[in-house]
Amino acid sequence: MPTKDFPLLSCAAFAYLDSSATAQKPQSVIDAVTNFYVHDNANPYRSLYPLAERATEAYEAARGSIAKFIGAKTPSCLAFTSGTTMSINVVAHAWAKKNLQKGDTILSTIMEHHANIVPWQNITGCDSGLDLQLINMYDNGILDLEDMEARFKIFNVKLVCVTHVSNVLGTLNPIKEIVKMAHRYKAAVLVDGAQAIGHMPVNVSRLGVDFYAFSGHKMLGPMGSGGLYIAPQRHAEMGIMFAGGDMISRVTKKKAWFKPVPYRLEAGTQSVADIIGLEAATEYLNNFPNGLKGVKTYINQLGKYAWKKLKKIPNIKLLGPGPGKDWASSVISFTFDHDGASNGERIKNQDLATELGKHGIYVRSGLFCAQPLIEERLGLKGAVRVSLHLYNTVSDIDRLIEQLLLITKK
Ligand code: ALA
Repeated sequence: MPTKDFPLLSCAAFAYLDSSATAQKPQSVIDAVTNFYVHDNANPYRSLYPLAERATEAYEAARGSIAKFIGAKTPSCLAFTSGTTMSINVVAHAWAKKNLQKGDTILSTIMEHHANIVPWQNITGCDSGLDLQLINMYDNGILDLEDMEARFKIFNVKLVCVTHVSNVLGTLNPIKEIVKMAHRYKAAVLVDGAQAIGHMPVNVSRLGVDFYAFSGHKMLGPMGSGGLYIAPQRHAEMGIMFAGGDMISRVTKKKAWFKPVPYRLEAGTQSVADIIGLEAATEYLNNFPNGLKGVKTYINQLGKYAWKKLKKIPNIKLLGPGPGKDWASSVISFTFDHDGASNGERIKNQDLATELGKHGIYVRSGLFCAQPLIEERLGLKGAVRVSLHLYNTVSDIDRLIEQLLLITKK
């Protein structure tokens, strides 16, 4: 079992069921970060002595491996960022602000994390003349593609921003279908891949997306590492977000010229050791039996097992589509109606999560940075979420169920 590869879990007395917030790190990732500082630490691209050249080579080798891991056709399609939130903000400022005009519409969805709504709120409305709309979903947590198509017909949609996997419902969105529809209407597609990448095979070229944002720390890599995939046809359209450092090709007293993608998006010194740690995470995932397909199958079995057991507990109401093709299985949220309280009253759910924590079962509760979904669409005050990764076991789920039965009977 891979649990032994994860120092924090190998002797843990707790069951870690909060990987959607952040995943634990295998020793190989920790070693890669440490090794960079012990053996190779220098600033890539700045200096020409052997140590600096080694750092540059390691940085670009990481770009090559990670680009391959996500199915990008060339390493130049991958810009390093601090994670999904930063990547989405880069698209908002370096692409949308430059290429969208008054009267254009951005479509996001009601099931998004705040990171895929608020950056769009920030650049739309008021003087911008840009409009933001959220696509609806059905009560079972599946995106309403008819609603999406209807908006394409009425509005001048230029960008669709959608999550690959919902961090609350576990919904696995049909990205290929969404891309096909959006491209028919000449709109670009940005996918928030935070909850998908590292949990299942992801191939950005096959999905046909224009932008794919992801975080390293949810795919067993270091916090502060992440990336933005930019499809080749969008490279020439990219402006900049931040300025300074090696993203500049020439500066005069009056003006600066910027390097092409991806370098123009990497202002200042990057978190090089973390990027090298992220490369080690991709190696670890690739080496799981049967690679990412194997990871997906493993999480799927565990998720189905957890869903089945949770479903049997009185007063627990599961959210999202559940087992089937529209479900990613790594995310399972539920509400607990206690003492006749309804609507997943937040304090009760938080109490439940706190109580589980006291018994060594670590889950997240609350709004999951998805307030429009939880409050406005689902009419809830909060929920409890169990999220899984490849190091979880049936015994983690059994512990959760055993404690839930005890707590909810009180
Ligand atoms: N976005 C992360 C979560 O869903 C932090 O928990």
